Amino acid sequence: MKIFISGIAGFLGSHLADAFLALGHQVSGCDNLSGGYIENVPALAEFTVADVCDFRKMEELTHGVDIVYHCAATAYEGLSVFSPAHVTRNIVEASVSLISASIQNRVKRFVYCSSMARYGKNQVPFSEDMTPAPCDPYGIGKVTGEQMLANLAKVHGMSYVIAVPHNIIGPRQKYDDPYRNVASIMINLMLQGRQPIIYGDGNQKRCFSFIADDVNVLTRFALDSGIDGEIFNIGPDEEFVTINQLAEEIAFQLDFPLKPVYMADRPQEVRLANCSADKIRRYFGYKTKYTLRAGIAEMIKYIKERGVKPFEYHIDLEIKNEKTPETWKNKLF
Ligand SMILES: NC(=O)c1ccc[n+]([C@@H]2O[C@H](COP(=O)([O-])OP(=O)(O)OC[C@H]3O[C@@H](n4cnc5c(N)ncnc54)[C@H](O)[C@@H]3O)[C@@H](O)[C@H]2O)c1
Repeated sequence: MKIFISGIAGFLGSHLADAFLALGHQVSGCDNLSGGYIENVPALAEFTVADVCDFRKMEELTHGVDIVYHCAATAYEGLSVFSPAHVTRNIVEASVSLISASIQNRVKRFVYCSSMARYGKNQVPFSEDMTPAPCDPYGIGKVTGEQMLANLAKVHGMSYVIAVPHNIIGPRQKYDDPYRNVASIMINLMLQGRQPIIYGDGNQKRCFSFIADDVNVLTRFALDSGIDGEIFNIGPDEEFVTINQLAEEIAFQLDFPLKPVYMADRPQEVRLANCSADKIRRYFGYKTKYTLRAGIAEMIKYIKERGVKPFEYHIDLEIKNEKTPETWKNKLF
């Protein structure tokens, strides 16, 4: 099979590429390198630096491709209320461009990476049958992409699956990005002898999963029959931790004298956001092997090997006002 992965230099895209290569498939992909790291791209994958919004380029790159995984996105939920134009372009316009090119090239299945942000104001735990209720531009953009896909795929007869990954951690995640990836940011800071910054009281709860536990089930979306048009949450619903506990775990593993710096809540940040994993268990026998402790240990090893990095404020804030976090306005990381 020929698999095309957008955002292949990113965290999820590069691990997916490795997994498909290991399964003996032919892998190609593109990335505009606005996030991710070029070193993430596996040597055996055919790689093109390209922007997914460039429809003609996508049409060229998806020629002869069987399956498309659309992982490219500006996956910045918190930032999306402050840089909505940038986030929307790289979520909505990028998705429509790649969907359209894939249909034109008669791609057999399109796997769309959505986000837990699609559920927004729904009651937790979020299940796939809930009506989306996103409450920020990132979530609205992801749902718009889903709707565009459902519409165009139905009209033109392309099979598709919607993946809803959430809070996945692991090596290759960008750790010098001040706008996202809380565990990676904390490790990068503590390894520099700096205290982590926590928004609000740190009692907001999350459920993290390790990349190796999720990538195998994600690859199944390429070929399994009987899942056309289905939505699947991907991630566990067991080991919940608060952001404070996450900081404590990292500090424990680094033997770091933890005294977090607390700052004002970010607008729209939810206290408890978790998805049900019932459906993915039922369809694919999804089960995690890695504990949070084991996952964090792998990330620490990765960041130590590559070396700590200064944070790169690579996205401009479009809206700067009293609601904009000081960490971003004043570049505090
Ligand atoms: N990692 C998670 O826990 C998680 C959670 C929810 C949703 N997702 C979704 O999964 C997908 C992959 O996430 P990730 O964690 O690997 O993010 P990532 O930032 O590591 O990877 C995304 C990649 O897309 C690239 N990109 C962005 N805009 C592009 C464009 N216009 N053209 C070409 N390349 C572009 C970036 O350079 C980056 O390498 C995203 O759609 C994200 O919204 C991930």
